[in-house]
Order: sequence, then C-alpha cells, then structure tokens
Amino acid sequence: MCGIVGYIGSKKVVPILLEGLEKLEYRGYDSAGVAVLENGKLAIEKSVGKLQVLKDKLADGAPQGSVGIGHTRWATHGRPSDENSHPHTDWPNRFAVVHNGIIENFQELKEELQAKGHQFRSETDTEVIPHLIEENYDGNLESTVRKVIDKLDGSYAMVVLSEVEPQKLVAARKDSPLVVGLGEKEFFVASDIPAVLNHTRKTFILEDGEMAVLTPENVQVFDADTGEKITKEVHVVTWDAQEAEKGGFDHFMLKEIFEQPKALRETMSGRLSPDNKRVVLDEVRISPEFIKDIQRIYIVACGTAYHAGMVGKYFIENTAQIPVEVDIASEFRYRNPLVNEKTLVIAISQSGETADTLAALREAKRKGAHAIAVTNVVGSSVARDADDVIYTWAGPEIAVASTKAYTTQLIAMFLVGLYLAQHRDTISAGEAEVIIKAMRDLPQQTQAILDRLDEIKGFVSKYAKCEDVFFLGRSLDYAVALEGSLKLKEISYIHAEAYAAGELKHGTLALIEDGILVIALATQMDVFDKMVSNIREVKARDAAVVGLTFEGNKELAKSVDETVYIPGTHKLTAPVLTVVPLQLLAYYIAVARGCDVDKPRNLAKSVTVE
Ligand code: M6R
Repeated sequence: MCGIVGYIGSKKVVPILLEGLEKLEYRGYDSAGVAVLENGKLAIEKSVGKLQVLKDKLADGAPQGSVGIGHTRWATHGRPSDENSHPHTDWPNRFAVVHNGIIENFQELKEELQAKGHQFRSETDTEVIPHLIEENYDGNLESTVRKVIDKLDGSYAMVVLSEVEPQKLVAARKDSPLVVGLGEKEFFVASDIPAVLNHTRKTFILEDGEMAVLTPENVQVFDADTGEKITKEVHVVTWDAQEAEKGGFDHFMLKEIFEQPKALRETMSGRLSPDNKRVVLDEVRISPEFIKDIQRIYIVACGTAYHAGMVGKYFIENTAQIPVEVDIASEFRYRNPLVNEKTLVIAISQSGETADTLAALREAKRKGAHAIAVTNVVGSSVARDADDVIYTWAGPEIAVASTKAYTTQLIAMFLVGLYLAQHRDTISAGEAEVIIKAMRDLPQQTQAILDRLDEIKGFVSKYAKCEDVFFLGRSLDYAVALEGSLKLKEISYIHAEAYAAGELKHGTLALIEDGILVIALATQMDVFDKMVSNIREVKARDAAVVGLTFEGNKELAKSVDETVYIPGTHKLTAPVLTVVPLQLLAYYIAVARGCDVDKPRNLAKSVTVE
C-alpha cells in the first residue's frame, strides 16, 4: 500500500518528507520518491528499493525548498522501477502527483492523451493524472483537479504540487485514506497519522469526495462535486506513533481483518463487467482454444493459500466443469504429477516468494503446463515465473496470520472459475449474473459482520481455555473449516483440527467428549440436514457446539449451544463471509491467552526456504 506525505510551510522540506515516509514504511513499499519546489521549478528524485537508497541519493545535494510531496510505492500497475516510482509529472514537468489507489480507466485515458500528443514515461496508472491536469489546466489548480477527478474511475488519494501555483498543495481522496496535519504556519497531508505526529497532533481526516487546498497560511476543504466549502472538526491525536501505525487497532491482524471490505473491492475492481454478466481478466492471455482444451487444473500453494485453493477447486469444478486437484506445493514437486500441455497450473501465494510454491510452479511449467500466478506482490518471484498473473491487490499484509490475503485469494478463484466457465460455455448468463451480483455484495456484507464484533467477543470468555477444538463442515464449509482451524492453532497455540463432517465417525469421533469445542459450519443448504445429523453426533458425546449459518435460519439454533449468523449469499461465495467470524474468534481467543498475535512463535511471514 503506498504512502503519501506532503508539506507546505517554511522549514526545509526534504528531511520532513523523508521522516514522514519512514513512519509509513510499515505499510510496505518497493520504491520511494520526492518532488520539491526549488527556485520555482520542480526537482524530483526517486528510486526503486528501500528508503535508504533514496536517502543516499539525496545525501549529496538534496533539492532546497519548503514545499514538497513524497511517496512510497507498492507496485500495482507496472513493476517496481525508478520510472514507475512516484511522483509522476506531465511531460513539461509543471505538475507533480503522488497517488495511492488504482485508476481503473487509465488505459482508455492514456490512449486519449497519447492521441493528443502526450508522451508517457512509465507503465503506471497514476501517470495519467498529471497529464490530465496539464491538458485541462484552467488557471486554477483546485478547479482543474476537480475536473480531472471527475474523469477518473477507481480509487485515489492524491496530492498535487505545481510550479504554476507554487504556494499550494491540492489533495483529494476517494476510497484511499488521507489525513491533514495542522501546525503553526505549516501544514501536512499524509496517508496516515504517524507521518505527521512528530510535528503536530492536530489533524483531521479527509473524507471521500473531499478536496483540501493547503497553503502556508491555512487549509481549506471543499466538496469535490459541488465546490462548496466544508468545515472540518479538528481531532487531537492522543495515541503514540506505534499505536498510530496500527490505525488505532491493537494488532496488525485485527487491522487487516477490518481492511477486508476494501481489499475485496480492490480485487474485484475493474474485473466485473458493469452489467454483471462477465468477468474481465485482461491480464490473462490464454487462448480460447487452450481454455476449451484444458484437461486438468492443478492448484499449488501452502498454508492459507492452499486453503484458498480448496475453495477454488469447488468453485472451478462447479462453474467451469474442469477437474481440479489442489496440491500442497511441497508434495506436488516430488510426486511426479501428471502434467502435460493441456494442464493449467495455478500457483497461489500472498508473498509470491514461498520456496515450495515457486518450485512447484517451475516443475509444472517444465512439464509443459500453462501457469497462472495469484499473488499480492507485484514483481515477486512467482509473478515473474508464471505465464500470467492475477494480482489480489489486498495491500501489504504484515501480521503473520493471513486474513485479507485469504479472502482476496478466494475472489481471485471466483474470477478464474467464471472466466474459464464463460469461455467454455459451461455456465448460463443468468447463473453468472447471480454469482457476480453476490460477489459485489461481499464487501458490505463483510463490513456488516465486522460491525457485530461484540457478538464474537462474547464467546471468548467461555472458550479461551479450551485445549482441543474441531472445525466441522461439508462441501465448501469443509474448505473454510481448514482455514478456521489453521487460524486458531497458529496464533492461540490451541490444538485445532478441521474435519469433513461426514468423515468424523470413521475414527476421530473417538476423541469427542466433554470439554471439546466444536465449531460447526452450516452454510451449504444442500447438505444442511446431513450437517445437523453430524452436529447431533458430537452433541451426544457432550461437546460444546458453536454453529454458523445464514441469517434467517431457524433450524441450526435448535441443535447447537450458540449460533453465529452471517448475511445470506450464494452458496459458492459463502466462504468469504464464513471465514470472518472464525478469524475474529481466533484473534480474540489468542489475545485472551496472552499470545503474540502478530508474530506467533516459530513462524515467519514469508517462507523462502524449503
Ligand atoms: O506467501 P504465501 O501465501 O505463499 O504463504 C504461504 C503460507 O506460508 C501462508 O499462507 C501461511 O500459512 C499463513 N501465513 C498462515 O496464516
């Protein structure tokens, strides 16, 4: 996730920008840059790599000035490189822009601008913004920015600096955060509060659809649509810098759980047709002939990503009607899998650097498969080695326990399933539309679950001392049970297992007794009655049972001790919602047990060794 810092005042701007960017490093980034107004001209320095590389470049001869903008970039459109780093400018270098978010219609805008003679220097979506400003400049920067954002589809937090109106920074936001910091004759704008805390504690949040104009004298806020002035309430920050990095949450894991509605939107962004009839995956360049001919799909992944693959199997088999095998990547590479030129392999990896997943992908390619990577990290090894890449655009995940990476990987699986199905004519237009509409509802339905946080917290005091927990489900609920049990065990150190509910009586039922907690997932209505029978089997052996089903279901509560309800959705999209209460339950139980939630013992975020 990119980081933005802007400053206008009377102090030397470069040290302020660099210090602010340092405070935003926790967000993850792959390159950094600054633009400063020096003697009335824009001076720009940027470089790929850590902030230290930029600092070294600036050490001998940083531009002098007291107005500037800085940026740390987390690549989405275009690999990490000096050219793709921000700030971006128009061709004559009169307007500089830093941006966080995704401009969905950038290709179309770029082509229009190119036709008018604009020359582009980068592969980014962002670069269209300074060019649009130059093209539309009407003598007033804020009114020009208003015109420009009207042309943009997607999300943005942006700050514009120009040599034409040097005593001004213009900021605007839609679906990406921006805060304004108020000092004494100096003003700040940033993606997050830690970037300004060393200078001021007086801040306000810029809301969606608002624009701020910062000068050395004051800050004015406007409605971007109407141009009307808005009076903001100033908030005095009482958190310390470390707390502020977590956005007021106690842990990154909880922050990332709460980022899921936004992350889900980003993953779907620009990939569902406006009429909800088709999936658009321009990044996948497989020929229609190959898609029709695919004989088998292997999904290779580890841990949480493997569990996303399990959901992917159900989804793809149900929609595209191609047999799918999901392989633990470390097993796949050594078992001589039956791969040929009619095989599609999908490697799922949040980091894109997991050694086993990378090796499995390479092995499949060596045997002739076409490879698609599903990853969160642009330019990662898995992304580079695959034939095609679907980025999940979840933003950096810092907690070791995956949460938003998992739910966005599920969306990627749905996109692949529908894409293959529409090319193979295995799904009717009506059914595709029903699923796509259900997908579009998932972000706000996830938010609705998060809004009822206290219900989940209520279970914690009862179950935090359990030492054995079983997660049961059938069909897609079994796939989610696997992820629920991993979440609980990795951060709370409670022994947890997931079972296909029908399999329990073939051995594991022997373990069920008083003191065991069973989490029973019951969202798959075609097997609901069978699931209830399985719940009765464990109740009869004195287990405590927490059931999970859709709102409006009156039956489940009759057979369990407590019931968690999630909003109703299509059976194939249910896993995205089902997992959220399980993430929260794992989190609060781990906190109650005093565990180091963000850094569980023995685990690393990225496993780059075999
Ligand atoms: O970066 P990857 O998605 O390839 O990581 C794979 C696993 O190590 C990872 O999903 C791990 O299981 C999770 N961090 C657990 O929450």
